[in-house]
Amino acid sequence: MENKEIVLSGVRPTGKIHFGNYYGAIRNFVKMQESFDHCFFFIADYHSFTTQKDATLLPQQVRRILATYLACGLDPNKAAIYLQSDIPQIPELYLLLNMISYKGELEKVPTFKEKIRDGKQSVNAGLLTYPTLMAADILIHRSNKVPVGKDQQQHLEMARNLAGRFNHTFGDEFFPEPQAFNFNAELIKIMSLSGDGGKMSKSDDNPNNAIFMDDTDKVMTKKIMKATADSGPTEPNSEKSVPVAGLFELMRCVSAPEVVEEYEKKYNDCSIQYGYFKKQIAEDMVKMVGPIRDKIEELEKDTEYLAKVVKDGKEQALESAEKTMQGVRRLVGLNYF
Ligand code: TRP
Repeated sequence: MENKEIVLSGVRPTGKIHFGNYYGAIRNFVKMQESFDHCFFFIADYHSFTTQKDATLLPQQVRRILATYLACGLDPNKAAIYLQSDIPQIPELYLLLNMISYKGELEKVPTFKEKIRDGKQSVNAGLLTYPTLMAADILIHRSNKVPVGKDQQQHLEMARNLAGRFNHTFGDEFFPEPQAFNFNAELIKIMSLSGDGGKMSKSDDNPNNAIFMDDTDKVMTKKIMKATADSGPTEPNSEKSVPVAGLFELMRCVSAPEVVEEYEKKYNDCSIQYGYFKKQIAEDMVKMVGPIRDKIEELEKDTEYLAKVVKDGKEQALESAEKTMQGVRRLVGLNYF
């Protein structure tokens, strides 16, 4: 079998894209499209129905994510950018993978257990089989490199299990085992501005705890200026508190290394003034996110262009997906005449 590197990742079109998504995920996709010939990036619109069923909200969310992908630098000439719902082979593979997904293993997936525990919504079958659909997304192109964050590792493991089980059951080395991939040895964690040690998150109840890619300069600045810090170091070279360490981490993402160095020094000799420190982070954040935000707004209005991008992406994804499914149908015995 040909030995190709196939990169695939996706995002659910629910919630807003925040700086953590951009810095930790989308920037990585952009780098990958430069290094790998076969990249697929898609919008997991079917997945959104597991938690949200608002027909008026969805189109707007999908356009926004698409505009965000493009504004951040994903290039339709270098990667196939498409919608999950444009590829009927995905639900077809999902159906077959469901036949080899065990109820017990699905119930053990941490994200599913959390959903049950917090009891905020009714538990539907789609939520239970979320990892099976995700496995179908990945395996449909026989992808082997999947750039995802730490929170998706369990889902990826399920995709590996299903790939292996399919191969074992139907007697072939048909699917590769998909692996997580990140250019940075360590997965970067962008902390919540609340300083509670949690990650920046789209499901945080307080929108002030995250910088969103569509925040105005003023809003971004205000959020950073109000971020939790502490009362300041009193002894030289003391260890940083969780909130201050989070702010330094944020600064490392947006500011020049010399600037970070300067503030590290000030922290260590206790001359740091958090007001100036935060102002510097806010200024550099605005410089990084501002132009992307403006581009998102511009692209979002250009529905003709967005439609063209996903039409091209669909063509490429369909071709690859159909090729996989021809193999799958043959292997499972769906080839009668
Ligand atoms: N579950 C992913 C998330 O919530 C989104 C997703 C769906 C995905 N299918 C995928 C990511 C396939 C990578 C590969 O972020």
